[in-house]
Amino acid sequence: MDTPAGTLARYKMFIGGEWVDGTSGETFPSDNPYTGKPWALIPRGNAQDAERAVRAAHKAYTGGEWPKLNATKRGALLRKLADLIGDQARSLAEIEVRDNGKLIAEMSVQTAYMAQWYYYYGGLADKIEGAVIPTDKPDMLNYTRHEPLGVVAAITPWNSPLLLTAWKLAPALAAGNTVVLKPSEYTSASVLEFMKLVEAAGFPPGVVNVVTGFGPEVGMPLVEHPLVAKVAFTGSDRTGTLIYQSAAKGLKRVTMELGGKSPNIVFDDAHMENAVKGVISGIFAATGQTCIAGSRLLVQESVHDEFVEKLVALGKTARMGNPMSMETQVGPVTNPPQYRKILDYIDIAKGEGAKPVLGGGKASRPECGDGWFVEPTIFTGVKNSMRIAQEEVFGPVLSVIPFRDEDEAVAIGNDVVYGLAAGVWTQSMRRALAMSERLQAGTVWVNTYRAVSYLSPFGGYKRSGLGRESGQDMIREYLQTKSIWISTATEIPNPFILR
Ligand code: NAI
Ligand code: MG
Repeated sequence: MDTPAGTLARYKMFIGGEWVDGTSGETFPSDNPYTGKPWALIPRGNAQDAERAVRAAHKAYTGGEWPKLNATKRGALLRKLADLIGDQARSLAEIEVRDNGKLIAEMSVQTAYMAQWYYYYGGLADKIEGAVIPTDKPDMLNYTRHEPLGVVAAITPWNSPLLLTAWKLAPALAAGNTVVLKPSEYTSASVLEFMKLVEAAGFPPGVVNVVTGFGPEVGMPLVEHPLVAKVAFTGSDRTGTLIYQSAAKGLKRVTMELGGKSPNIVFDDAHMENAVKGVISGIFAATGQTCIAGSRLLVQESVHDEFVEKLVALGKTARMGNPMSMETQVGPVTNPPQYRKILDYIDIAKGEGAKPVLGGGKASRPECGDGWFVEPTIFTGVKNSMRIAQEEVFGPVLSVIPFRDEDEAVAIGNDVVYGLAAGVWTQSMRRALAMSERLQAGTVWVNTYRAVSYLSPFGGYKRSGLGRESGQDMIREYLQTKSIWISTATEIPNPFILR
């Protein structure tokens, strides 16, 4: 993975503890969104590579060192990996910035924080306890064990490659599974670099594998593979639906995190300066390319004009440019299809009669160079029935929708197919509690936005997903329960009836 000046970095897949090319020998370029130019070559995996990786993971699951390790030792490996992440946080962050366009200001914190998922699930590994059940049957001991599932396929998107990998990999390994990772074709480099740390931590070969390439070519063969027991997916609801359908044929477990159209709801009794910052953070951080983007601002009629004015004033100050600079606040869009998609939605919104009060097109500021930059954009006059209010844009585009009272805020807030997150800005305790209960979303933030932690369950209502990630309970998503009955009777009773 050396990068002599002027040439492209050349990556390999990681299968069965070996660095390998794809069986086809083909590669494809990965771009730097700030320069708009390729910087690395990634192996173009296919069904044969998926087969190799699943076989390696299955071999590691059924034999060799991994199944013999006790849970305490598995936990120790995860914590070792976490230590190594801490040491390499800066260089991992730089790869994410180069490949994805994320801000170094955010990534230098995020890659270090990511280690917490490995510490946390490393700690949890040997605390997965079964129960002894006080059975109603005489002379019988009944107890439960929570056992791993087998091979887990984890398919991840481009918006937070390493963090979203951690959310799946850490609990899957803590539970004793083995894993095949398939990162997004737009951002495969950081996960491949990360495998060097998995190697150095001392995980046995085949416990963690990475195949790279395009979804239909190498992702779907993983989903369809009979030896894959579970698919953990984050991405679009369109692809999630395809994967769910295919996984159903093999009765595989799935967890899915599928994006949203989250309302950020500002009441007239809110702390206005904080609410303005919270709304900006919800939509312009990470260039709006987050599943939790607060892409609909619901603002109470009585403060609408004043609030929009403050929002535009702060939005105007956003510094765009090189994501590698600590000063930059809004970076480029990660890939050309996404760039076009965002610009198309801006046109759709204008066509629907929404009014751009900030931005409203591509950014051609000199500091944006040849990168794929879109101006932070705010539309007023949006009705919740418009496409711009219903469909996930995944970019720095905010729709402002006025409301009268709590009931109307709830009705509009919930009137989308998604339910990933919601924000509520109010100083009333009663209102905060009432709104948190009435909003159909897996996460509700009150007087804050974009807070996530390894300690707290994250996931979606409605079309935003299935299952949860993070927190103690979610380890269950990677386990299955066995009930064991042991008879202490000296004699077997009537064999013709249920015991
Ligand atoms: P996608 O959902 O198609 O891709 C996510 C992952 O699934 C990638 O690794 C991709 O290679 C894989 N994949 C694609 N098709 C597959 C298939 N048939 N079988 C197996 N795996 C497959 O998302 P994409 O195309 O990168 O972005 C499209 C839109 O999805 C974005 O504009 C955004 O609206 C949404 N999105 C949502 C994310 C979230 O965090 N919920 C993350 C990324 C995108
Ligand atoms: Mg890239």
